[in-house]
Amino acid sequence: MHEIRVGLLGLGTIGTGVARILLEQQELMSRRLGKRVRLVAAADRDLSRDRGLDFSGVRLSDDAMAVACADDVDLVVELIGGYEPARSFVVEALSRGKHVVTANKALIAKHGEELFPLATANDAALGFEAAVGGGIPCLKALREGLAANAITSVHGILNGTCNFILTKMEREGADYAGVLREAQELGYAEADPTFDVEGIDTAHKLAILAAMAWGAKIRFEDVYTEGISHITAADIAAAAELGYRIKLLGIAKPHGAPAGPEAIEMRVHPTLTPVDAQIAQVSDSYNAVMISGDFVEHTMYFGRGAGERPTASAVVADIMDIARVCAAGGDAVEQLPPPMGFTAEARREIPTLPMADVVCEYYLRLMVRDEPGVIAAVTSILADHRISLEAVVQKERSAARSVPVVMLTHETREGNLQAAISRITSLPSVEDGVLILRKETFGA
Ligand code: HSE
Repeated sequence: MHEIRVGLLGLGTIGTGVARILLEQQELMSRRLGKRVRLVAAADRDLSRDRGLDFSGVRLSDDAMAVACADDVDLVVELIGGYEPARSFVVEALSRGKHVVTANKALIAKHGEELFPLATANDAALGFEAAVGGGIPCLKALREGLAANAITSVHGILNGTCNFILTKMEREGADYAGVLREAQELGYAEADPTFDVEGIDTAHKLAILAAMAWGAKIRFEDVYTEGISHITAADIAAAAELGYRIKLLGIAKPHGAPAGPEAIEMRVHPTLTPVDAQIAQVSDSYNAVMISGDFVEHTMYFGRGAGERPTASAVVADIMDIARVCAAGGDAVEQLPPPMGFTAEARREIPTLPMADVVCEYYLRLMVRDEPGVIAAVTSILADHRISLEAVVQKERSAARSVPVVMLTHETREGNLQAAISRITSLPSVEDGVLILRKETFGA
């Protein structure tokens, strides 16, 4: 039976999961593939830890570059994460014509445009299903299952840590800091939790989804990114009173014809989602990606976005796709769908819509002095900037003589809203800053 030989870089959580499947699920994989996938080498800085696996027959090493370049490795699996040295290992492997599979969203979001042509030039495949949505095969769905559609929007809960934190804060009225600690103890958070809670991990994933949806070059640096670290249990409760749940969403939309947009809107921020929307039901550390297309209408993909077994499931599916087209007589990577869903020639630079031109409905939370004329002063500034209000809620006065006021606006251009807010924050009767949350409604 023809076999494909795998070298694994990184035996951390996901690497251990991938090794577990390759070592323990051989028979099932061979029955599906008609080929054998054999783990021949694995590299990690710490080889002393017991991973509960029998690595006999596998060459273990602390030299990842040696495994990435080894003559007996056909396919390199990069599970080290981060930008460097992961990028260098992948570049070396692709340059030698080895196929690469990675779960590294940071690498693809930042360096994908360097890696795709390198793979093509060397007749190598580059798989990255696990980079977005962990175990959810959402990239395959977008690239292949929805290929007949012009995509009209992408919405995702793409970070399990943030979803876990927001869910717990809502259910238990708990504080942000304590719940973050719990998420870290459960192993959901990235090594640097800033990537999770400040929305960067979600932005990496959204940049990949948006580029794949519209045949665009990846523009991670353009994604408007705001995290959840400033959200309080009181904001979550206030949103609930108005019928909304706060979720960290990645949102991408085309401007102009969806089949060939002139610009793409890409934003990551805490978002008021109606409690009865499908995506608002996605709780705890689960992820979901909602993709809408002009023929299919709304679709949603749900599952575990992180963790050893779900993420390993997506990594091995990529390995199997590549193994399937690697015939005994030679590889045929051109039989695989293009990695970003469009031919290399069709992919183009599509400008990102400036955030100032994005149109949203907004939730504003202000702390104001409880004095005559304060609300009138605030609403007159909003009117100057052509911002119309849908609702205003004022809570009882606290001991400090200031009161929280929550306002919901109708659809407004972000640039107008920001101009109004900078005037409102300079009013002497408005204390602290103004919390701005954007609201999103869904077709499903
Ligand atoms: N830290 C990420 C999350 C894991 O919490 O979803 C995978 O990107």
